[in-house]
Amino acid sequence: MSTKKFNRYTITSALPYANGPVHIGHLAGVYIPADIYARYLRSKGEDVLFIGGSDEHGVPITIRAKKEGTTPQAIVDKYHGIISKSFQELGISFDIYSRTSKQVHFDTSQEFFTKLYENGKFIEQTTEQYFDEKANQFLADRYITGTCPKCGNENAYGDQCEKCGSTLSPTELINPKSTLSGAAPILKTTKHWYLPLDQYEPWLREWILEGHKEWKSNVYGQCKSWIDQGLQPRAVTRDLDWGVPVPLPNSEGKVLYVWFDAPIGYISATKDWASGLGDNPIARDWTVYWKNEDTKLVHFIGKDNIVFHCIIFPAMLKAEGSYILPENVPANEFLNLEGNKISTSRNWAVWLHEYLEEFRHKQDVLRYVLCANAPESKDNDFTWKDFQARNNNELVAIFGNFVNRAVVLTHKYFEGKVPATQDLQPIDLQLIEDLKKYPPQIAEAIENYHFREALALMIDLARTGNKYLAETEPWKLIKTDEKRVKTILNLSLQIAANLAIVCEPFLPFTAAKLNLQLGLSPNKWADAGNSNLLMNGTLLAEPTLLFDKIEDDAIAAQLQKLEQTKIDNDLANAVLAEAKPEIAFDDFGKMDIRVATILEAEKVPKTKKLLKIKLDTGLDQRTVVSGIAEHYEPENIIGQKVCLLANLAPREIKGIPSQGMILMAEGKDGKLSFITPADDKNNGACVN
Ligand code: 2FM
Ligand code: ZN
Repeated sequence: MSTKKFNRYTITSALPYANGPVHIGHLAGVYIPADIYARYLRSKGEDVLFIGGSDEHGVPITIRAKKEGTTPQAIVDKYHGIISKSFQELGISFDIYSRTSKQVHFDTSQEFFTKLYENGKFIEQTTEQYFDEKANQFLADRYITGTCPKCGNENAYGDQCEKCGSTLSPTELINPKSTLSGAAPILKTTKHWYLPLDQYEPWLREWILEGHKEWKSNVYGQCKSWIDQGLQPRAVTRDLDWGVPVPLPNSEGKVLYVWFDAPIGYISATKDWASGLGDNPIARDWTVYWKNEDTKLVHFIGKDNIVFHCIIFPAMLKAEGSYILPENVPANEFLNLEGNKISTSRNWAVWLHEYLEEFRHKQDVLRYVLCANAPESKDNDFTWKDFQARNNNELVAIFGNFVNRAVVLTHKYFEGKVPATQDLQPIDLQLIEDLKKYPPQIAEAIENYHFREALALMIDLARTGNKYLAETEPWKLIKTDEKRVKTILNLSLQIAANLAIVCEPFLPFTAAKLNLQLGLSPNKWADAGNSNLLMNGTLLAEPTLLFDKIEDDAIAAQLQKLEQTKIDNDLANAVLAEAKPEIAFDDFGKMDIRVATILEAEKVPKTKKLLKIKLDTGLDQRTVVSGIAEHYEPENIIGQKVCLLANLAPREIKGIPSQGMILMAEGKDGKLSFITPADDKNNGACVN
């Protein structure tokens, strides 16, 4: 491990895509650990710059915009607003929350590209890529679907088959189709710029595999596997109309690849912060946070971002030449929800903005649970029962209970004024000794990115205080030994004051409340371990509870919400048939659809679903067998006007010749209903 001394910290957290809100998986994986780290370092008095921002480019944003019938800009404006507000409410203490649609970001990423281009760091390559002639544009991998060559799934994407999980390239798809127009795309040549990662392989091997053996094993292991497999040149541009334009002549319609511009977003955000505009009225020098060797750069990310932050971005920085490299990339694994993978598209998530609405003033509970359960070394599961248990059994029963007892008893016996210690007994001295051990242990755990362990130590300190009160029982001594009670309450309050310091990185709202309760102004980390933080005679505020019990009904409501999501997903899967491929007008014109009236109806014997129906079609009277018996009683549909596909080839069903098909609409719940003209049309009227 490097013992290098750093004078400042640049802490980045992955820029979330602004195409949806943030959920607990993002928080546990990235933002809560990053915030704990930043808050702890600030409390130590370090020079810290903590960066966040929205990643506003990339194909998923354009797809979302298409789906919602709006523009990519409207999508990113909407979600940037939701995301930044919810981060702020959760107390994520970014120094800047920027966005990649800002001019400073366009300028910064274009300058970066240009410098690499001018210094010959790219290779230019012309390849054949799929082009949609109808939409007149090249197709991003996600805009192409077709049959998976591995499993036969007809709806595989150009980059991946979601059914069998295979990684694909668009040209591997059988019968590729453009999702823009439905047309079969053609292959057309296009020029792009590639970063020759293969050339950086020896350097990456040395820098990571030799130089950063201290990186978390999941991160180190993934890097080793990438490097050992051999690195390939990576295109850093795309044919797309959403993103940062390629700053070269004759490159209309080309933008920087989102994974090229997004990490540069950390640098642009730093410039944004330093500009002296917005919330930060003092202009500063941004370069020290990116170009000084005594700055420690740490990237907080989820495991799906490892290759970009450990291999590609460092190679870009190395190629550029004037930047520092990350000192560590403490990526986390994934958090699941109630045993299933969190999924934005299936709405299987706890969304931060909804949590903040539904659990008002409980930011720290979420912060606590997500840190206690963070997927630091393996995927973990979030369950609402565990959320409730950790709140009720740890925050309320240990932390809150301890502080509350100390404050309430001080009010009861000493008018709310901190009493002075008297003769210290061995149990008191032991408490003072124990207290001293915690802050350095917590600090070490945080500095090694072991946030769960650090949090467990923090709650252990509260547990120690609780145990001390339980063992000394001041409420029993007050009648006989007031001096002793003074000592016990003084020391208990000192522990509470220490908790306010060491819990602040994890539970900032609680720390603020606790300081208020104790009449303290916030202390710094260096004061932690001190058993004289509270002066004798300090007047405590009226006691208020730090945490409230979470009742069963609140948990049941959340579980019910997830249950409903499952039902909605099942229905959507069952009923929402895939859109069918395009047909020509002539295909439609071949269908003879007419208004008809049901004259007679009866159940087909020995079947559950079938009705034998006699119709007046205007042309004739005929019989049709229809699978609607579970939806309609025969006697109730006599006289019903329907639409009939009249020229469907006749076939025999259960021995009954059926001539045509009655058209039905199938609802989300699977219920069938007749398609009927809005007013009274005569039998035989054509539908066209
Ligand atoms: O995976 C993601 O959500 C990306 N938007 C992360 C980008 S991190 C950085 F490079 F900006
Ligand atoms: Zn497949």
